[in-house]
Amino acid sequence: MANVSQPMPIDRTVTLEEISDFADVVTDYATELRDQILAPRPRKEAPVFTTGEVAELCGLTRQQVQYLATKGDGVLPEGQSTGTGRSRSRLFTLVEARNWVQQVSDIYQTPLVAGPSDFEGKVLITSQLKGGSAKTTTSMCLAQGLSLRGRKVLVVDLDPQASLSELCGLYAEKEVSPDDTVLPFVYDQKIEGGLLAKVQPTYWDGLDIIPAHTELVGAEYHLPAMQMKLAGFKFWQVLRDGLAPLRKHYDYIILDTSPSLSYLNLNALMAADAMVMPMVPENLDFFSSLSFWRLFSDVAKSFIKYEANKKYDFVSVLLTRVNYNSTSAAPVVRTWAQGAYRHWLDPFEVPASSVMSSGALAFTTVFDISSSHSQAKSLARVKQPLVDYCRWVDDMFVKQWRPAQ
Ligand SMILES: Nc1ncnc2c1ncn2[C@@H]1O[C@H](COP(=O)(O)OP(=O)(O)OP(=O)(O)O)[C@@H](O)[C@H]1O
Ligand SMILES: [Mg+2]
Repeated sequence: MANVSQPMPIDRTVTLEEISDFADVVTDYATELRDQILAPRPRKEAPVFTTGEVAELCGLTRQQVQYLATKGDGVLPEGQSTGTGRSRSRLFTLVEARNWVQQVSDIYQTPLVAGPSDFEGKVLITSQLKGGSAKTTTSMCLAQGLSLRGRKVLVVDLDPQASLSELCGLYAEKEVSPDDTVLPFVYDQKIEGGLLAKVQPTYWDGLDIIPAHTELVGAEYHLPAMQMKLAGFKFWQVLRDGLAPLRKHYDYIILDTSPSLSYLNLNALMAADAMVMPMVPENLDFFSSLSFWRLFSDVAKSFIKYEANKKYDFVSVLLTRVNYNSTSAAPVVRTWAQGAYRHWLDPFEVPASSVMSSGALAFTTVFDISSSHSQAKSLARVKQPLVDYCRWVDDMFVKQWRPAQ
C-alpha cells in the first residue's frame, strides 16, 4: 500500500501577542494597497465639468452657457476651450462650475455666498443600525450633490472606521491624528477654537471636513464617565453645543455615523435637524432599521424630559443599493417599509450599481466620475436619483431659508 503522507496540521491558535504583531502587518499591507490605488498627492482630484453639465447644474441650455462664457465681460468663469470646429467645447473646474450655479441658476442662494451673516445652516445625519447600508456613501453624495447646488458643506466623520475621511481624500490612519477629530472637544468643551479649529478643507471645493480616527471610541468611555461624575452634565448635548457656532459658516453640516447607537451617535442624533436613513431593501436590513427606532427610543427615554422641544424637520428613509432583479427581495421589503415608515419612505431609490461599488475601490463616488465615463448610462441611472434627492432635501430647507416675499 502506498504510503500517503498526511499534511502537517496547521496550528490555528492565535495569541494576543500575535494579534498585536498582525496589526503592524495589516497596516503595511493597507499602505501598499493605497499607494497602488491612489496617486500620492493630491490623493483625489475633483472632476471637470463639460458645457452640458454646467448647463444642467444651472438649468440653462448648452447654447446659453456657451454664449455667456464667451461674452467676455469677465462676470462668469470662461472655462477652458477644448477641441476644434464642431467638436469645440469647454471644460470647467469644480470651482468654476459652482460659481456658475451661484451666479446664474435659479437655485436660491443663502446669504453665506455673500459672506458672514446671521444665517444658520442645517445639520443632517445619516443613521442606520445595520452596517454597510450605504450611510457613508449617502453622506458623501449628499455633500457633493448639495455643494453642486452652490451650498457650502461641512462633513463630520463620527465613525472610528473613518470611511468618509477616506472618501474625502485623506489616508485616515496616516494623515489624521486623534487631535484632528471631534475628540478633543468631547474631552474638553472649553478647548480653544472649539470645533471650528478642527475643520480642514478637502479636494472638493465647498466641502470641508472634521475627520475621524479609530481613537474616537474613547468618547464611548468618556461621555458616560462624565455623566456619572459631573452633576448637571448632559452627555447628549456635547456635539450639538460644539456644532452650534459652525452653523454660521455652512449651509449644511452632515454627520456620518457608525452602525451603532453609541454615545457619540446619540450626540449626533440630538444635534441633527433632519435624519436620512439609508436602507437596503433586504430582510435583515429592514428589521435592523426597526431595532434602531426601538433602541433610540429606549435610550432617549432617559433624557427625553430635558428635550421636550427636540424635533426633526424631517426623517427620510431612502431605499438604496436596490436590486431590481426578478428574484430580489426588494418588492416585498419595499411594501414592509411602506407599512412601517409611511410618509417617511420617500420615492427616491438608488439602484445597486457596479459603477458605485467599483468606484468605491478607488475611494470615489458617482459625483467624482465624469459623465464621459465609459459606462455613462449606468452612471446616470445611479447618479440621477441622488441628484434628485439632494434637490428634494435642499428644497425642504429653502422653504425655511427664503425670505417671505
Ligand atoms: N448603490 C450602490 N450600489 C452598489 N454598491 C453600493 C451602493 N451604495 C453603496 N455601495 C457600496 O456598499 C458598501 C457599503 O457602503 P457604505 O460604506 O456607504 O455603507 P455604511 O452604511 O457607511 O457602512 P458602515 O456601516 O460600515 O459605516 C460600499 O462598498 C459601497 O461602495
Ligand atoms: Mg460608514
